[in-house]
Amino acid sequence: VQEQMSEKRFRHVLVVQKAAVELAKQYGTDVEKASIAGLVHDYAKERPDEEMIALIKQHGLSKEIIDFGNNIWHGMAGWILVRDELGINDPEILRAVEIHTVGAKEMTSLDKIVYVADYIEENRAFPGVERAREIARVSLDEAVKYETKGTLQFLIENEKAVYPQTIETYNAWVVNERMEKFDK
Ligand SMILES: [Fe+2]
Ligand SMILES: [Fe+2]
Repeated sequence: VQEQMSEKRFRHVLVVQKAAVELAKQYGTDVEKASIAGLVHDYAKERPDEEMIALIKQHGLSKEIIDFGNNIWHGMAGWILVRDELGINDPEILRAVEIHTVGAKEMTSLDKIVYVADYIEENRAFPGVERAREIARVSLDEAVKYETKGTLQFLIENEKAVYPQTIETYNAWVVNERMEKFDK
């Protein structure tokens, strides 16, 4: 993993791994899987665009992905490199890597842990990160909700493209409760 990225990114990866292990212990999830998933989650982040586009085409992934750039590719397609180059075949780990940036409508505890660990790791310093850490100490689901809302707000404020699955995640994790209240 270290050979695949800059020193700075590797430092990020190591603290995501650490945060993932802490969350896994706290929430009673497989610590080893959380550790490995944290370690490999950004494995493909520094791959050249041409290589990632070729990978996406070769594996017949949705063409819509190509418009979004490596912020989306390194997860949605990067898991394939984790599998093929690192020999990690555990579907739960690969899935957590796949959706670590965009989330999903349905997420396992491991998915949530990697998603949240990436957001709250100790070197993050964006507004709201301390609140995200507090929430993560109390509820993993609430942490997913807070992060999803924050991510979408950030994308909109910066006029950045929103990947459709990010909206699905938002609808599932942020909106649902309110819709249930309206139903009653
Ligand atoms: Fe990432
Ligand atoms: Fe990351």
